[in-house]
Amino acid sequence: MAAVFTVLMLCLLTCAGLLPLSLSDPNDESCLTHLSESLKDPYKNLQNWTKSVFSNPCNGFTSYLPGATCNNGRIYKLSLTNLSLQGSISPFLSNCTNLQSLDLSSNALTGSIPADLQTLVNLAVLNLSANRLDGEIPPQITLCAYLNVIDLHDNLLTGQIPASVGLLLRLSAFDVSNNRLSGPIPTTLSNRSGNLPKFNSTSFLGNKGLYGYPLPPFKGKGLSVLAIVGIGLGSGFVSLVLSFTGVCIWLKITEQKMALEQEGKISQLMPDY
Ligand SMILES: *[C@@H]1O[C@H](CO)[C@@H](O)[C@H](O)[C@H]1NC(C)=O
Ligand SMILES: *[C@@H]1O[C@H](CO)[C@@H](O)[C@H](O)[C@H]1NC(C)=O
Ligand SMILES: *[C@@H]1O[C@H](CO)[C@@H](O)[C@H](O)[C@H]1NC(C)=O
Ligand SMILES: *[C@@H]1O[C@H](CO)[C@@H](O)[C@H](O)[C@H]1NC(C)=O
Ligand SMILES: *[C@@H]1O[C@H](CO)[C@@H](O)[C@H](O)[C@H]1NC(C)=O
Ligand SMILES: *[C@@H]1O[C@H](CO)[C@@H](O)[C@H](O)[C@H]1NC(C)=O
Repeated sequence: MAAVFTVLMLCLLTCAGLLPLSLSDPNDESCLTHLSESLKDPYKNLQNWTKSVFSNPCNGFTSYLPGATCNNGRIYKLSLTNLSLQGSISPFLSNCTNLQSLDLSSNALTGSIPADLQTLVNLAVLNLSANRLDGEIPPQITLCAYLNVIDLHDNLLTGQIPASVGLLLRLSAFDVSNNRLSGPIPTTLSNRSGNLPKFNSTSFLGNKGLYGYPLPPFKGKGLSVLAIVGIGLGSGFVSLVLSFTGVCIWLKITEQKMALEQEGKISQLMPDY
């Protein structure tokens, strides 16, 4: 009897002790730990992002981490915008497997967009706009089938836009303007079939090497129309300036001559005492 009681008591104590721990998720802990290591926070804007919180960032729907939102004890939203963050995006973000929204916009993040994000099967919002991210847009992110928003504007991204992006059926916002992208705009994005939202030139502007509808077609080698017009206008302007200067000099000389003549006339008119 006493033995059974002891076992029961032990079990109760252990369960009670383990319960809060069982709520935390080792994947989320790995995700947050690595992310906080890869980000640099020179202005100490990420208060309370301390190691002790990473092991247990959520209490049900409550988050202990500023910028994080929890759902059922898991991180499901990370929004760290306009915090002057530097450093890079850790590939271990992919360990936050319940992540539905990732917004790291308006910081000074460098490095590339980790292809590992492809394992975030619930990801609907990816906003990495207004940073200094370089490298290519990893085609793997199109494996996140629920993506609604891909906003990568104002970065230093190079390479082509992966054509598979256009296959994301739920995509309703797409912006890669002001990067260093090149190559053709996939027609799967600009001229999507059926009722899928089509993306106009606003999504693509500010990339020197991008071409094709809804931007102008490929210009090829040699002088572009714009360059020819530029040269024409430029030489026109130069000759205008030159003739204007000529006229000015001529006027000046004439003026001086007239002044001299005037002086002569005046001295002639003046009686000599
Ligand atoms: C940071 O943690 C302290 C106590 O640990 C708490 O009082 C404060 O509200 C937290 N700040 C934020 C922004 O969550
Ligand atoms: C970004 O943060 C700065 C300083 O904290 C603030 O002045 C500015 O209004 C913020 N910008 C946006 C768009 O929130
Ligand atoms: C966590 O992410 C890293 C980097 O993507 C990956 O190598 C590792 O397998 C992930 N861990 C788990 C448990 O998924
Ligand atoms: C992404 O974030 C920026 C800056 O925080 C915001 O202005 C923009 O609207 C966001 N993009 C989308 C598609 O919501
Ligand atoms: C867009 O697609 C339609 C049907 O596939 C085609 O007829 C049309 O020429 C395309 N427009 C452009 C600008 O590519
Ligand atoms: C592009 O589409 C957006 C909304 O989808 C609209 O606000 C904007 O005016 C459009 N721009 C052009 C150049 O058509």
